[in-house]
Parts: sequence; structure tokens; C-alpha cells
Amino acid sequence: MRTLSDLEDSQFHGKRVFVRVDFNVSINNGCIGEDYRIRMSLPTIEYLSKRGAKVILASHLGRPEGHDQKYSIAPVAKRLTDIVGRSRPPIRFASDCVGIEIEEHLDKMNKGDILLLENLRFHKEEETNDPEFSKKLASLADIYVNDAFSTSHRKHSSTYGAAWMFDIRLAGINLIKEVKYLSMIRENPIRPFTIVLGGVKIKDKIGALEHLLPNADKVIVGGAAAYTFLKAKGLNTGNSIIDHEHIQWVEKALLSYGDKILLPTDHVCASSPNDTSVTMVSGDIPDGMSGFDIGNETVERYSAEVGSNGGGALFWNGPMGMFEVKAFSNGTINIAKSMALAYWRGSKTLIGGGDTLEAMKRAGVAENEVSHVSTGGGATLRYLAGDEMPGLVILNHY
Ligand code: 3PG
Repeated sequence: MRTLSDLEDSQFHGKRVFVRVDFNVSINNGCIGEDYRIRMSLPTIEYLSKRGAKVILASHLGRPEGHDQKYSIAPVAKRLTDIVGRSRPPIRFASDCVGIEIEEHLDKMNKGDILLLENLRFHKEEETNDPEFSKKLASLADIYVNDAFSTSHRKHSSTYGAAWMFDIRLAGINLIKEVKYLSMIRENPIRPFTIVLGGVKIKDKIGALEHLLPNADKVIVGGAAAYTFLKAKGLNTGNSIIDHEHIQWVEKALLSYGDKILLPTDHVCASSPNDTSVTMVSGDIPDGMSGFDIGNETVERYSAEVGSNGGGALFWNGPMGMFEVKAFSNGTINIAKSMALAYWRGSKTLIGGGDTLEAMKRAGVAENEVSHVSTGGGATLRYLAGDEMPGLVILNHY
């Protein structure tokens, strides 16, 4: 993969650079929630801008049906202006991603200026990878940069079709960092290698787990995923969420890797998530009750395992329980703290998935107490599964 530093600084000077970023962040009434993805794109934007490039940022936001203002990316332009600093010219914003207005913006752009295009998905041709639309996007710039690892599993115009049309295609700084950490975990994890698996859906994680399980030394299972594992072992899980569709896969995983899979032995249970009277249950969960978090004994055991990883690698995907509800947040918060401890003790820690980042924040763990927080959801799991990533394929051909 060619990166930004593979070009001389002078090659960026005065050039238009199309940067595919992933600004798919939550926006409520014009207010941006978690802006981690925006902040992670900053090193690439600054790198290009400082070298006198005219930086054109393009992203999707949500899954709009046509031009729906609810999905306008305009609030990101304001947030970006705050992030890059008020001493610079404000981020320009174009109310479309193709068309005459862009030409006007491009004509007015000075070296180092930054232009954010409106949501790419306002044009359905983006997702169909339409050649004409790709041509329009490619005509905007001289150089293509992909810094949107989290969208690189999509074969869309901005990640694939348009990218092919540039002679110079480069990987952005965040994308390179993502690939570096995820490849380490996928190909050759530093040992001991511990996986912390949580969340609800097993389905989305099977591909990644099939790749990672053979190299893992320990697999710590929590969240709703744990109840499917316990059910597969023949325990009573009461009314807890079970992924019945994938229970056979879990049975096979237990047969092959059972000796390294750790399961909860006690649970924080209630009759429903709104039930204020929670009960700590050891072993079988009685009918009428559901597990919503790992219990105290399990928290202690899991935290000790994570914290004592001993300079290896840790990959955490998915919360240990329904952590949005205070009564069920103890497991997730303690795992987050133990991940930070493992990091300070020299382990390489990698966190994947939006929920997991949110959990980390609630635990008061800072982003710089983790080796890498992946910006990807689906993309991270697909990459770990070894699936083809169209947005990366184009970067490997030059
Ligand atoms: C994500 O949020 O995982 C990426 O931005 C991709 O979004 P998509 O699943 O709507 O393509």
C-alpha cells in the first residue's frame, strides 16, 4: 500500500486531493455525538493541508433514501472547523458532492484549504458504484486518498469505482494504523493472545472468530453471547437472549477450543431490564429470569485474566452486559479498566466496535490508555475474517 509519505511533499503542493473519510457519526438535532471518527481523520487532513494540498473530504452519513436533509453532513463542517482550530480558514462546505457548485468552490480554494462535500449517499449511484457517478467524483481531484478503513468493506463509487480512476491512490494515516493493528491480531498476534468477546450477535463475529480462535490463548466470553455458549453446554439460561441460529457453531467451537474458552459462572439477573430488583445467580439461571451482566465472581476472574495478560495482545469486541443500564454495567466497566491496566503493563490492546468504545468512556478509560480503538464496526470484523475489502484492494494495486 502506498502511503502519504511515499510522495514528495512538493507532489501535494497546489494539488487537489480527494480524501474518502468516514464521518458516519451520530447526529441528533444538528448535534454530533461521539466524534472519534472525525478526530481520527485529522492527522491525514493536517498532513495534506500543511503541504499546500487543496483537501476535498467526502463521506457518507447514515443510510438515507435520496436527498433527506436529516442526513446532511453539514454539522460535521462546523465540528471540523472547531477541531482544526479557529486560526485556520473555516472548512468550506458544498451542499452536494457533484455538480456545478463544487466547481465554484474548487476555483476559490487556496492551497491548504479544506472542502467538505455533502453526503455521498444523497446519490444512490454512490452505493451502486455507478461508473458515471464515479467519473464525476474522480474529476474533482488529482490524487485519491482513502482514510476510511471503516467503509473499506463497501464496493461503492467513493471507495472503489472512482478510486480506480486516479493514477495516484494512497492510504491515509488512520487507515494504515488500523491495518497495522488488525493485521497483527489476524496474522500473527503477540502472545499470549486474549480475546474478550461480548455483545449480543454471534453471527457477525463468526468469520472473525474462525480466523482468530486457533491463535488465541484465552477467549473470555460475556454479554448475551455467553448465554448461547452456556446453553450449548447444557446449562439452564432462563429467559436470557440466546442466538439459537448459531448454537451449533458454538457447540463446535466448544469442542475444538473449549479448553481456552472462559464462561461466566455467575450472573446479574432480573425479570426484565427495567426490573429494579436484581439478583446475583450462580450456575443455572432460573426460568423467568434473564442474565443482563456477568456476576461479581466472574468479574473478578475475568478482570484478573485481562489485567495479567503479560505483554501479549488483547482484542475486545462487545460489552459484558447491558451496560447502558447502571445495574448491569459493572462487568463491562471492570473489563474496560482491566484493559487499561493491561495496556499500562505493556500489552497491545485493541478495541473494536462502537459499543465497546462507549463502554470504555463510561468506565473513565481514556483513548490513550488503549493501543488502538478501531473506527470500524462491520469493516473490522470483515477484515479480521480475512474477507476481501474493496477499498483496500484498490490501494494494493498501483
Ligand atoms: C459504519 O458505520 O460501520 C461505516 O460507516 C459503514 O456504514 P454502512 O454500514 O452504512 O455502510
